[in-house]
Amino acid sequence: MDKILVEGGRALRGEVRISGAKNAVLPILCAALLADGPVTIRNVPRLHDVRTTLRLLGELGAGIDVSDDHVIGIDPTRVNSHVAPYELVKTMRASVLVLGPLLARHGAAEVSLPGGCAIGSRPVDQHIKGMQALGAEVSVDHGFIKASASRLRGGRVVFDMVSVGATENVLMAATLAEGRSVLENAAMEPEIVDLAACLVAMGARIEGAGTGRMVVEGVERLHGGEHSVVPDRIETGTFLVAAAMTGGHVTATHARPDTMDAVLGKLREAGAAIECSDDRITLDMQGRRPRAVNITTAPHPGFPTDMQAQFMALNCIADGVGVINETIFENRFMHVQELLRLGADIRVEGHTAIVRGVDVLSGAPVMATDLRASASLILAGLVAQGQTTIDRIYHLDRGYENIEAKLSALGASIRRVS
Ligand code: EPZ
Repeated sequence: MDKILVEGGRALRGEVRISGAKNAVLPILCAALLADGPVTIRNVPRLHDVRTTLRLLGELGAGIDVSDDHVIGIDPTRVNSHVAPYELVKTMRASVLVLGPLLARHGAAEVSLPGGCAIGSRPVDQHIKGMQALGAEVSVDHGFIKASASRLRGGRVVFDMVSVGATENVLMAATLAEGRSVLENAAMEPEIVDLAACLVAMGARIEGAGTGRMVVEGVERLHGGEHSVVPDRIETGTFLVAAAMTGGHVTATHARPDTMDAVLGKLREAGAAIECSDDRITLDMQGRRPRAVNITTAPHPGFPTDMQAQFMALNCIADGVGVINETIFENRFMHVQELLRLGADIRVEGHTAIVRGVDVLSGAPVMATDLRASASLILAGLVAQGQTTIDRIYHLDRGYENIEAKLSALGASIRRVS
């Protein structure tokens, strides 16, 4: 079991190249199943979840070409199964995103129910509701979602709550449905805009991506195509918070500042000087201690829940008291117990965490529980006195490409030990 060791106290300086977005590449890989020709995807991050998704596509019969780490070719014309097995789905919830493409392209799909995870029960009722609105027969038994439709027909879906995954699943299915589909109360995340751009490159007809109402005119077929994945706004935010916490001066390159207004706004509130160009973001903390900020997570363009744990780490050493409300997931404070072990002052009341900044955190052995919690523990280790050891970092490898190499290049004292 790998661990990460961090020695605190170094201000981060320099440039970091941002990778493609995990939460864009996963649906885009699944979208390739819709095509009747090869699909090439560029700027693919090297992540465990990407490898898991490629294994799933391979299990379905698709041809996979990973000759280059960051460019993937998928040949969906050889798909010969429509069953996504439990042993793969249980390790990665995003596997449920093959449901829409398989149903639309092959008229049938059997996808294991993903089950919950550390941050919540993660139901998929909205995914099922959407497929039924497009005319599919859907049943759930023995732990599997079973869906079938000779041909999907366009329909209107009003999601009960904003769901990134359900919006993506139904959007993909609607591209091959007969007639017009309207998705209301749709998620507006940049990763959905990126998925829509990839689908349009394959011949789909989509209006309104990035707004709460998307209109899809179904087409007979989608051809192959090429797409370059949007930069990862959560990886970018994680490095910028690291720079702010350590009083450093860091430039993120190959980034997309226009997808990060809420996060950049909170970093400025914390006292950071930030300059942006179209694909670069420079944060200069000028050696200052960050000020505490209040956070309430919300669907895009609100503050992203995937940046909540990282800002909690910032508030732990900030000047003042920061109040954090987590409104998206029911159990996304798993990092609190571990941060307390480092000397943080945090009180949790329901979905609210009150964080009183302390002058110094002290390094200690801690344990990662989920992807973004792992990141927050590394951030805290960067400023804690002495050594922090983070265990169970397989969570980290799901969503960050070479995070310790990138942080080392910025001057952090961090290494991975087996
Ligand atoms: C996506 O998960 C992301 N994952 C998550 O990132 C992210 O935190 C989340 O969106 C919110 O932005 C990927 O894109 C692979 P949701 P998803 O459906 O689609 C409830 C990370 O760290 N809900 O928007 O699963 C659900 O329980 C990961 O990179 C239903 O009730 O999230 C949650 O409370 C973590 N029924 C809320 O909606 C449904 O059918 C939002 O979930 C679907 C969702």
